[in-house]
Amino acid sequence: MQDLDSFIKALPKAELHLHIEGTLEPELMFDLSKRNNVPLKFSSVEAVKQAYQFKDLQSFLDLYYAGASVLQKEKDFYDLTYAYLKKVQSQNVTHVEIFFDPQTHTDRGISFETVITGIRKALVDGQKNFGISFQIIMCFLRHLSEEQAFETLKLAEPYREWIVGVGLDSSEKDHPPSKFKRVFEKAMEQGYLTVAHAGEEGGPEMIQEALDLLRVRRIDHGVRCTEDKSLVERLIQEQTPLTTCPLSNIKLCVYSDLKEHPLKKLLDEGVKVTINSDDPSYFGGYLLENYIACQKAFDLSKEDLKKFAIYSFEASFLPEEQKQYWISEINKV
Ligand code: ADE
Ligand code: ZN
Repeated sequence: MQDLDSFIKALPKAELHLHIEGTLEPELMFDLSKRNNVPLKFSSVEAVKQAYQFKDLQSFLDLYYAGASVLQKEKDFYDLTYAYLKKVQSQNVTHVEIFFDPQTHTDRGISFETVITGIRKALVDGQKNFGISFQIIMCFLRHLSEEQAFETLKLAEPYREWIVGVGLDSSEKDHPPSKFKRVFEKAMEQGYLTVAHAGEEGGPEMIQEALDLLRVRRIDHGVRCTEDKSLVERLIQEQTPLTTCPLSNIKLCVYSDLKEHPLKKLLDEGVKVTINSDDPSYFGGYLLENYIACQKAFDLSKEDLKKFAIYSFEASFLPEEQKQYWISEINKV
């Protein structure tokens, strides 16, 4: 491993944009398919990997929702989450804020309780065994209705204390943040923090809406803010973090080459931009691989890399004291 790669690895890092369903590796997908008797349309692990060629967000989502069908029991959600934690502890990821999509499972007849209990048990064990702290964020699928999002918010009530915030994901086109304004208002009344995917495939107006109508603390992706200068100024002014996912954006053809990605430009302009992995099993890299790819594409210096690691904690929902602890650890590397 090169000098800078080991430097990146040594930096404590927080992951703020990670769909737990997107960590389902083909091997585990096959194991669970057998364990639960859920047929897959692929004949081998290799065939699954071959199919991971996407032309846009929707072509990915179709495969992603199909893959999630093998997740049936609490133990499956536990195994999925624990495998992710085991992987990222080797990359010195010390804090994770993970998304889960309850509707992907409740719509298949899997109970909310099964899903969240399995995920949370693994996170608790991961904290004990690997020292990784965690938060859980529940996302509403924006291609579904407002009414279905309200139903999901209701289902989450018994688990309110386990879930720090609500988010918005799935197909951005034709499903603007405004569709979920009332759901987010209710969620905020219940004390949830809010985040939303915006400006991934949709334009800067999606980011504007997420800020104004959903009162989000962070924008997930947000890369298309670059098309509106005054929006970029606002993000700088308000220091609203963007949780960008560089390898995801390449795999989903938002950019054809990482060198075109606005990450470094936004960093230099003063936007609080962070590096994350989104759906690492599908996009060819976990957090470390995302950092390394960006280092190479933009020739990032150690100072830049430290800044990304520091931002990852500053933008997190950790208490201030823990943020400061990790920032001081980063400054020792
Ligand atoms: N769900 C999982 N990954 C996603 C992404 N990149 N955008 C929107 N929804 C998603
Ligand atoms: Zn995402």
